[in-house]
Parts: sequence; C-alpha cells; structure tokens
Amino acid sequence: MQPLVYHNPTKLIFGKGQLEHLQNEVIKYGKRLLLVYGGGSIKKHGLYDQIINLLTGIEVDIFELSGVEPNPRLATVHKGIEICKENNIDFILAVGGGSVIDCSKAIAAGTKYDGNVWDIITRKAKAEQALPLGAVLTLAATGSEMNNSSVITNWETKEKYGWSSPVTFPKFSILDPEFTYTVPRNQTVYGIVDMMSHVFEQYFHHDNNTPLQDRMCEGVLRTVMETAPKLVNNLDSYEHRETILFSGTIALNGILAMGARGDWATHNIEHAVSAVYDIPHGAGLAILTPNWMLHVLDENVKKFKQLAVRVFDVNPTGKEDRDVAIEGITKLRVFWSTLGAPERLADYNIGAEELDLIADKAMARGEFGIFKKLNKADVLEILSMSL
Ligand code: NZQ
Ligand code: ZN
Repeated sequence: MQPLVYHNPTKLIFGKGQLEHLQNEVIKYGKRLLLVYGGGSIKKHGLYDQIINLLTGIEVDIFELSGVEPNPRLATVHKGIEICKENNIDFILAVGGGSVIDCSKAIAAGTKYDGNVWDIITRKAKAEQALPLGAVLTLAATGSEMNNSSVITNWETKEKYGWSSPVTFPKFSILDPEFTYTVPRNQTVYGIVDMMSHVFEQYFHHDNNTPLQDRMCEGVLRTVMETAPKLVNNLDSYEHRETILFSGTIALNGILAMGARGDWATHNIEHAVSAVYDIPHGAGLAILTPNWMLHVLDENVKKFKQLAVRVFDVNPTGKEDRDVAIEGITKLRVFWSTLGAPERLADYNIGAEELDLIADKAMARGEFGIFKKLNKADVLEILSMSL
C-alpha cells in the first residue's frame, strides 16, 4: 500500500425523506443563496417547488442559475460567478446530477479567485478558497456529491478537463432514492456504467498488498451488477434505486482509492471524446473501457484474471490466465450491452477520420495513465478498437 491520509469532510445525508435536513444545513452558511440546477427536470418533477418552499421557510434570499448543461460548460460557470460576485452570494445549493454539482464547484472556486476560473480548471492555478456549497442529488453516477472533483468543458476550444481541490468538497449532500425515480432508462444505464468504470479506474494499479481494497471494489461491482438488470426493468423500485444510489457514492468518495494510485486513463480519453462530440459520459465509457482493458491486459494478467473469476464468475479450470482474463472482459461488454449501453463510437457517428483530433485532445496534458502510461499511439489504438 501507499502511505495515505484520508479526509472526506462531506456530510452524507442519505435516505427517504432526508430533504427535511435542508433548512438546518443551509442556515449554517448564510442568507444569500445561489440555487443551481439543470435543464428543467427538477421543475418537471416537483423537487424545485419542495426546495423553494423549504428555503422560503428560513428566509434566505434566493438567486438562481438554471440551464446547466450535461457536460457543463465554462460559459455557464462564468455566468454563475458573475451572479455570485454581483449579489454577494454566501452559499451555493446544487440540485441535480453530476453536471450541476461540478458546475457549482467551479462557480464556488471561481468566485473567490481573481483571475479566470479556467486557470484553476486547467491546473495552472490552485483554488485556495471557495464559497461553501451543498447538494441535493437527483442522479446516481459520478460521486461528485461526496468528492472534491469537477469536470468542465470549454466548448469554444473543445477541451474538457477534470480538476479538484480540498476546498470544493460539498459541505453536505442530501440523497433520497426517490429523487432518482424519474431518471430515464438510458441515463440510468449511463450512471451505472460510470460508477462501475470508477471502480475499474481504482482497481487497476501497481501498488502491492491491497487485498481489502480489491475486495471492496469487487463488492461494489458485484452489487451493482446484481442490481442493475433488476432496476432497468423496474425503474420505480425504491430498493434498487437505493442500492444504485449508494453504490455510486461509495464508488468515488475516496474510500476505494485508499493506499493505491488508480489509472484514470479511460476517463481521460472519454473526456476528450465528449469534449468534441458532447456524448453522455457513461455512454463513452461503455464504448472505451473494454477496449482499454484489452489494450493494457498484459500489464498484469493476474489482476484481470482475478476480476474475471471474482466478479464475472468465469471458471478458470483448465484455462490459460490470459484466456480467463479476456473472458471476463467479454462478459463486461455483454453485460453493458444487455443493459442497453452503446458499444461503438459509430453509434454516435464518430468515424475513423475523427480519431486523430480526439487523440490530440486526450494528449493535451502529455502522456497519462498510472496502470499503463499511454502515448498517442496507444490512444489511437484504443479509439480504433472502439470504432
Ligand atoms: O438538466 P436536467 O433537466 O436536470 O436533466 C438531467 C440531464 O439531462 C437529467 N436528470 C438528472 N436528474 C434527473 C434527470 N432527469 C430526470 N429525473 C432526474 N431525477 O439527466 C441528464 C444528465 O445529467 P448529468 O448531471 O449530466 O449526468 P451525470 O450525473 O452523469 O454527470 C455527468 C457529468 O459529470 C462528469 C462527467 O464528465 C459529465 O460532465 N463527471 C464528474 C465526476 C466528478 N465530479 O467526480 C466524475 C465522473 O467521472 C465524470 O467525469
Ligand atoms: Zn466517470
């Protein structure tokens, strides 16, 4: 294991009816609040009214930023920063999925930074301070509700980057599985792919002696795989929504990453794809992850075999390790396809002629990946396998 310090200050408030905590939490942080949300799902499904009622009850002044895009854009972050600066906002409440929370984190840090927030997102500057923010999550996927990461797209330059800072953990996050009932089937599947991908990114590393971390990762994967097929056929199941929502948070709140340096190359490539083509993050991961796995397999065949046997129930008897490993990767591909996730870039009309541009975007900050360091040729190979 690597030496580690684990500190996650986000207060997780999870379960049916937990929105009742909102007033007591918000009141701690001030009286002028920016409510940030997306394209309207919270209005359509009644959550907006519930939140406004609760906030009115504690007499906070409410300002609003609506229309945060999936794959949130820098221009929207700038809009939010302007509202915060002009109105002396002292707290941000993000209500929505990962995009809304990520956008709010960038607004929170950007408001306290004198220069252009893009410097922070591109890691040229560090966020030293941020407005406090809280979240009400409506979609199980990113883990943004209990981590300090944010992913922002500069649509003008077609760049999408992740960044993080100790000052951007949400102060609290309220997760009620009922708020996720209305997430459509395709988006539910993308979220499931995303959380599984987060586990893979942390599972494949070269640090030794991580038996508990391995088992925790495998436990999350098995739980999600057991639940996902039942959930997509019964989107109103409280029990399955609850399991998936909790899994998404555990998959990326730092617990699984303790003592090991995960890979994160697939995410880097996916961010390059969605920077240019604006496809859903989870859909891109479903296409790329099995091909990344095949490309890097020989870095540690035994680890891939362990995944195949422990998570995908591949019977290893009488088989070569490499064949067992490949059988596991095939089972992953089939599992995601059966749920309804896309398999090929062609599903989004992305053809061979676009790969060079995507690879250049992915390489913008140099070679990447901890399990296997990828250069442009590697990225092109993975993208070609994904056509
Ligand atoms: O905008 P609205 O109208 O709210 O609709 C959203 C959006 O269209 C809809 N939705 C959300 N909750 C709903 C709902 N529709 C019906 N009922 C509900 N309860 O779902 C659509 C997608 O929402 P979005 O927030 O974009 O999805 P997700 O949570 O998957 O976030 C994706 C973004 O997070 C980044 C991705 O790159 C992408 O930009 N990531 C953030 C990470 C982090 N902060 O740690 C890590 C991830 O790896 C990821 O990169
Ligand atoms: Zn992700």
